Amino acid sequence: MRRAAIGVFDSGIGGLTVAAEIAARLPHEDIIYLGDTARLPYGTRSPQTIVRYAERATGLLLKYPIKALVVACNTASAYSLDALRAATDLPVLGVIKPGARAAVAGSRSGRMGIAGTEGTIRSGSYQQAIHALDPVVELVARPWPLLVPLAEEGWHDHAVARLALETYLSDFAELGVDTIVLGCTHYPVFKRLISEVLETTFGASDVALVDSAVAVTTDLQQLLMERDLEAPQRAGRRSFFCTDARERFERVGGHFFRGDLSSATVVDL
Ligand code: DGL
Repeated sequence: MRRAAIGVFDSGIGGLTVAAEIAARLPHEDIIYLGDTARLPYGTRSPQTIVRYAERATGLLLKYPIKALVVACNTASAYSLDALRAATDLPVLGVIKPGARAAVAGSRSGRMGIAGTEGTIRSGSYQQAIHALDPVVELVARPWPLLVPLAEEGWHDHAVARLALETYLSDFAELGVDTIVLGCTHYPVFKRLISEVLETTFGASDVALVDSAVAVTTDLQQLLMERDLEAPQRAGRRSFFCTDARERFERVGGHFFRGDLSSATVVDL
């Protein structure tokens, strides 16, 4: 079992930020990544559809020798973890609880912002996870849908992204948050711009940005250690699957993974 891979899936390329974090911190582990590019975005779908898509993606990964499943997609994590845990005995890690824990641990003022897709915010998952850890935290939770296409366009630092963030961040600044959960796979690429807009437009320096990729990798590392599942010391292999548009997956996804994806395989779920 120690030689089995970590299965990671997302609605598309955004979850490659999670795969990149796992690859950097757990270099001996094999990673099998599936981006469901044929069905992206999940963030605007109904709960039933999100669960169905997540079950299919998981079904594909379970055909391979994996020892843990990481649901890198925040929207899928918000809706489908119970269904996925019912489908397999393997450990299934979502990004919501690790992100919530990191936010609560890092906040000094107890005033936090949560940004995510429409689906993630509507589910109330981050809000519940944070309030379960600290019921008195004051929260503002908002969808930031425009950032997904902007990230895929590579406009991480573009004037259009800045304008969108000036609008999106105003409610967060009004509450005086000291922590913002980046509850969508695509948002970490805007970290630098978010901090800059907070400082220059709202005079808010020192706002912590919580990246669920970092938090879930910490949980994964701990789980592998506790269950004696860590891979032997060797260079981990990385395999990439997508469900459509391989050329775009490799090209755009390469920026998210910060590495070469040129051997991706298209699969039909
Ligand atoms: N991966 C999704 C998430 O983290 C964002 C893109 C989508 O809507 O599918 O919620």
